[in-house]
Amino acid sequence: MFRRKSMITVLATGMLLSSGVVYAQTNSAPNAQAATAFDNNVIKKISADNMYNTIKYLSAVPREAGTEGEVRGVEYIESQFKSLGLETRRIPFPIYDYKLNHVLAVVDGVDFKGRAFSGSGSGNVTAELVDVGKALAGTITDDVKGKIALIERGDITFVEKVANVVAKGAVGVLMYNNSANGNNFGQANGEVPAVAITQAQGKGLVEKLKNGPVTATLDVDIQKIEKTSYVVEAKLKPNKNKDTGQIVTIGAHHDSVPNGPGANDDASGVSAVLELARILVNTPIDTEVRFLTFGSEERGMVGSSFYVSQLPQSDIDRIVAHFQMDMIGGAEAGEDHPLGGLIMYTINGQKNLVTDLGASASSRMYDVAVPYGQLGRSDHQPFHDVGIPSALFIHSPVEPQYHKPTDTIEHISKEKLQQAASIVGAAAYQIVRPDTPALERARVAPALVDYDFENRPVD
Ligand code: BES
Ligand code: ZN
Repeated sequence: MFRRKSMITVLATGMLLSSGVVYAQTNSAPNAQAATAFDNNVIKKISADNMYNTIKYLSAVPREAGTEGEVRGVEYIESQFKSLGLETRRIPFPIYDYKLNHVLAVVDGVDFKGRAFSGSGSGNVTAELVDVGKALAGTITDDVKGKIALIERGDITFVEKVANVVAKGAVGVLMYNNSANGNNFGQANGEVPAVAITQAQGKGLVEKLKNGPVTATLDVDIQKIEKTSYVVEAKLKPNKNKDTGQIVTIGAHHDSVPNGPGANDDASGVSAVLELARILVNTPIDTEVRFLTFGSEERGMVGSSFYVSQLPQSDIDRIVAHFQMDMIGGAEAGEDHPLGGLIMYTINGQKNLVTDLGASASSRMYDVAVPYGQLGRSDHQPFHDVGIPSALFIHSPVEPQYHKPTDTIEHISKEKLQQAASIVGAAAYQIVRPDTPALERARVAPALVDYDFENRPVD
């Protein structure tokens, strides 16, 4: 925490206020809106052709997490980082798929035709049912020990509900819907047999329980299949005699949805990560840069969550900014919004160091400040969760090819790639270049910018 605080302090005196908006050091020169020599150090070298070629290679094969396609992509990314001389690591982590062989939920001889939760445990249990309502933490009594919990869907996650009753000793879960939408829902972590039933069935059981004990049988046979997904990490160390001790991370996810070529989602982001790495290795810096590509984003940010969870606290304290790029090349994204619809999303909808720098960089280079908004849905989430200023750079609304087999190279715009990578590159460079935060030594100070919150529909 010390490091991040010191960063903010220095910025407040030298560059910009941590809360956004205003540069403490103003520059009223008439060319204040122009890209500076410092920006040009980075952006003049960005090649959209390089990025395009990366996307072409990566999107030739789907990169679903845990498949050969992911490994092919990971090998490529790793080889690129290594060829730049970066200290490169492939960090494996487990992901789980489930294959259901058999499910049965019977009460008083009636087969409920239940559906096993994704990630249900296996087992054959016969026990009394206990109505635990929505299974909210703190509301469950010891009654449920050795019994099957009858739970209503809603308010908290499936995983939380299951964990809450298992913590009290439940041996099974029978969960009913909170709408008339059938029984296709539910997620668990393999603890006990967990079966979903309809709302009508559940309400019927709640009534039946008022008249005395009800015994149920849950019989689930489900196979847990472990696969391996990866995070690729490449470290660029600062010049030894000029090291702020701070770290900037620049990330994208390399996995795609199953059978999706994922050219824009998110080979585009990966291509920018590689391109910025290529440029920064030949640029003097005083701050460590970590280039990261995450697997299993499409399974719920599993890779980035794993990455953050394995970081020592001392690293977390030193990371002053995380830049996430996801879907930055969609030709048909962004409608008529300026900058191709580029927007910076933060988890809490607040400005932070990353958005300040992004808005300022874009206004210097393109005369338009990128707006910000509030959205999760990508790998900036786990960084935010541990207190790291982070933002997602994306074009919004997203293109019609999103998560479709048509998310191919044909729908990638080189202009958009160039612009998004330039904005992120110039923004990150403001932190890592050796003459900041001691801006008094810089010949050209960044201009003062203000930028707007937008509540823009994304898809
Ligand atoms: N690139 C998208 C994120 C996205 C899509 C943001 C559309 C805004 C609009 C990302 O890869 C994605 O699809 N994320 C999943 C997250 C989920 C698995 C937790 C999503 O949004 O469905
Ligand atoms: Zn994505």
